[in-house]
Amino acid sequence: MEGEQATPLQRRVDELRHTIDRLNYEYHVLDAPSATDAEYDALMRELRELEAAHPELVHPESPTQRVGATPQSGFAEVRHPRPMLSLSNVYNEDELRRWAERARRFAGGTELTFVTEPKIDGLAVALTYVDGIFHHGATRGDGFVGEDISANLRTVRSLPLRLRHPTGVAPRVIEVRGEVYMRKVDFAALNARIEAEGGKGRAFMNPRNAAAGSLRQLDPRITARRPLRLFTYGIGYVEGGDTPSTHWEALALLRELGFDASPGATRHEAIDEAWDRCVWWQARRGEIDYEIDGVVVKVDDVRLQEEIGYVAREPRWATAYKFPALQQTSVVNDIVINVGRTGTLNPLALLEPVNIGGVMVSRATLHNEDEIARKDIRVRDVVVVQRAGDVIPQIVKVIEERRPPGTEPFRMPQRCPACDAPTHREPGVAMRYCTNAACPAQLKQRVHHFVSRNAMDIAGLGETLADRFVDLGMIHDVADLYGLDWEAIASLERLGEKSAANLRDSVERSKGRPLARLIFALGIRHIGERSAGLLADRFGSIAALAAASAEEINAVGGIGPILAASVFDFFKEPRNLEVIAKLEAAGVRTVDESAARSRYDTMPLAGKSFVLTGRLTTMTRPEAEERLRRAGAAVSGSVSKKTSFVVAGEDVGSKADRARELKVPIIGEEELLALLAGKPDTIAANGASDDGALAGAVGRADEAGNRANGQG
Ligand code: IVH
Repeated sequence: MEGEQATPLQRRVDELRHTIDRLNYEYHVLDAPSATDAEYDALMRELRELEAAHPELVHPESPTQRVGATPQSGFAEVRHPRPMLSLSNVYNEDELRRWAERARRFAGGTELTFVTEPKIDGLAVALTYVDGIFHHGATRGDGFVGEDISANLRTVRSLPLRLRHPTGVAPRVIEVRGEVYMRKVDFAALNARIEAEGGKGRAFMNPRNAAAGSLRQLDPRITARRPLRLFTYGIGYVEGGDTPSTHWEALALLRELGFDASPGATRHEAIDEAWDRCVWWQARRGEIDYEIDGVVVKVDDVRLQEEIGYVAREPRWATAYKFPALQQTSVVNDIVINVGRTGTLNPLALLEPVNIGGVMVSRATLHNEDEIARKDIRVRDVVVVQRAGDVIPQIVKVIEERRPPGTEPFRMPQRCPACDAPTHREPGVAMRYCTNAACPAQLKQRVHHFVSRNAMDIAGLGETLADRFVDLGMIHDVADLYGLDWEAIASLERLGEKSAANLRDSVERSKGRPLARLIFALGIRHIGERSAGLLADRFGSIAALAAASAEEINAVGGIGPILAASVFDFFKEPRNLEVIAKLEAAGVRTVDESAARSRYDTMPLAGKSFVLTGRLTTMTRPEAEERLRRAGAAVSGSVSKKTSFVVAGEDVGSKADRARELKVPIIGEEELLALLAGKPDTIAANGASDDGALAGAVGRADEAGNRANGQG
């Protein structure tokens, strides 16, 4: 009885959902609505009422569910099925041509077709659909692991909650890559609203910040009120369906599925045409209703993309032409010195605030004293200031005609502005250093870095409070953070017991941070997050890293001699070893025991270098590269005498010829899998039974096996 009655009702709900989806798509993606707002509102009202009366008919992908329900306490982590890469940049026609030439070389000389598309300035996202239904979405994070922001993404109207062709066209699982952004007009209106609502000073600096800030809101109801849009530019991952064979087709597929995909993208038979299109976009930059910071140029053929490959975390088959940096004139009000955590004296220009492309700029880095001397930058000078992307603004030059009378060349202080110790500059080194290892300014910087979000992430310990601890003599090194006198802290003025207890909790929690973060947090010169990750992967513990020779550190792929020397020197310094012993004694995790990370010396392919060519059948190129690196090998794009193996897939290119020329062993995919599995001795056996494409490799298979065994 009931079931029979539910059928027409169910059908009406389905119909409403589909109609509203279509209207949303027409309105938010196509910009061509076929219904009035009132009609749309009526349909939404009807659907809401039906769902309220029959909660069992509410689907998660229903348009009524876009407004997130409850605030979250934090974002869960999502591991991307394929890393989210970044792009190399080119700044002029010449560099673009050279990029194209290199891509062509890696493609074995094949003539390439390109696609150009605008590079929208927003927040990168990866959206996963299962059986045509939006499943979850994530930020880019560190490229490997991002944050689950599904609830917030659901509020973005141009994001389809259900793909338009869930069967037939859509694969079972598809991960779509794109950028969430805000149009210039919407951004201006949002800021006006924030200010009107009494949020003076809380307005966003630019549309990019507004988009990023809105998406990372813990309360999706706030996100829902922000005019966010989605633009998609690629497919990250597909399961149970065909992957398009060209980027152009991928964009077409995305549009078919209901996405706004790279508006204005065009295809070009030659790089000259692609460059013309870059110039075209640049001329229209100001007229477009969203901010673009460049043009992305991609090789169209997906097979050739794989052949052309990747360097580190950037594809070689795509690049971004970045529009010229934005410049403005300003006045240098003062030049001040900050003491860095390694004791460097960092000069900084305080500028008369200027708006450069929507960002208020009031300071510029001056690098070092030679740079100041070279540009002859003086206090009160009128200067040209440049802002490029996210980097700290720089002074391009002084407008000497406008120099006021009575200025003097700038001189670096001979004594540390923080502790008055003498400063010292070694010949051949650009920076000047404070010679006092106990300089409080250095310690403050080290503490700021140690507790920062990407390091040990000690929430509640802001710079002001950290400085106070240093000034009060409560900390003399970063390890003292784990031995703080909590009673004394609770009685500090303007702090109180509650904050002290919270801080104590976050200090406690930070003890379990992954090894890579601890290595980064130590503030070793030149060691950023990426290098810290490589070192953690290879050495697995602080003790092993501290015991390594400079050569061993240098042998880690991605770590060069300068970084290696810096790490080595750091662990030679008794004061640093003392701090590490204190950290260990306090219970800070200094070992990475996770199974996925193996110690370098037990890695099956430690010290070997590989070049990949041709198409692999059991894994993609990036996967193969990742697995090789995890096994301790280095992966390079070109064959040299130092190459241990060339891995030849199907349809190999010129790299195989080069390998034969240099007598570098060529192995096939099966042998590669055997090596990755730590079974080098299977190479000879497999090789001997192989034929066809691998015939050339077989002859040297024994040699290959021996080398992998460390005998060759
Ligand atoms: S392709 C493998 N295309 O730019 C290539 N990225 O540095 C991966 N972006 O934050 C990116 N517009 O989200 C690509 N048309 C476009 C883009 C684009 C904006 C962003 C991307 C990432 C950054 C890459």
